[in-house]
Amino acid sequence: MSKPKVLITHCEVPSSAIDLLRTDCDLIINDEKPYPNIDQIKAKAKGVDAILWSSKLKLNEDVLNAAGPQMKVVATMSAGVDNIDLNVLRKNEVKLANTPIVLNESVADLAIGLALAACRRFTEGREIITSAKWTFGPQWFLGRDLFQARVGIVGFGGIGQAIARRLKAFDVTEIMYSGHSEKEEAVALGAKLVDFQLLCLQSDFIFACCPLNDETRGMFNAKAFGWMHKSAVFVNVGRGELVVQKDLVKALQTNNLLGAGLDVMTPEPLPKDHELLKLSNCVLTPHVASATKRTRDAMAELCAQNILRGLGGEEMFTPVP
Ligand code: DGY
Repeated sequence: MSKPKVLITHCEVPSSAIDLLRTDCDLIINDEKPYPNIDQIKAKAKGVDAILWSSKLKLNEDVLNAAGPQMKVVATMSAGVDNIDLNVLRKNEVKLANTPIVLNESVADLAIGLALAACRRFTEGREIITSAKWTFGPQWFLGRDLFQARVGIVGFGGIGQAIARRLKAFDVTEIMYSGHSEKEEAVALGAKLVDFQLLCLQSDFIFACCPLNDETRGMFNAKAFGWMHKSAVFVNVGRGELVVQKDLVKALQTNNLLGAGLDVMTPEPLPKDHELLKLSNCVLTPHVASATKRTRDAMAELCAQNILRGLGGEEMFTPVP
């Protein structure tokens, strides 16, 4: 019997995942660098039964059509599924799995890093050194503490909870979160459910780590930044499109926020002359919150296991409903 065909959309998917798949599947691996465009992916998709999708590009109807009606399983190497057309997959009865949980700790580490970098003004500090403006004074270059701060977490899933666990070690005074319902895990973390407006009004640090969907798109807008106080720090490890970016730029330009730490932005990659890069109160990283060796290996292996289970008719470990 012939083996199922699996397309791996990027040749740098960790080898531990490729090894897991190799015995039972015929692998087709995109080798274009730094990453294949959609036509290159489509060209290799023809006739495959499953795809390990490691791409920021949209997996849409065109891709499924290019693959053909035998396509059964997609495993995206991401927790977010905003790069996948869910309706099209549903309509074509293609199963989808993502990689939640295994990236929580790495993303939470980076979120705390961004918060500290923003509240202690890392970007500005470096600029001061390189422009020879380094001086000294008891009131010079003050930041704010995470210690004893009030913190708001928007999206209290696995990543939000991992951030909260870290915050306990910083002795924050209060952890609030917003969302649809109380989370059982919040009790042990001492976190309290509040509505989004109150969270913005009362938090010294606001962490955005919710999924991007029609409800959350643009929720951090001029109104929300207006609710935040001038000494607040905004951190985004979710998706750039949670934010109306021009409103954030304005809030930072006018010092209506102390600072921001962003791992995600719009567009990605950000053009090198973008306004965000001109702001000394903004710390930026290039969408790398899950980019550690351990986590990327775990994400890829989870994809491989999901593909094997999906193709074998078993329930996948992390199916997207
Ligand atoms: C995710 O997994 O959704 C992260 O943003 C990494 O792509």
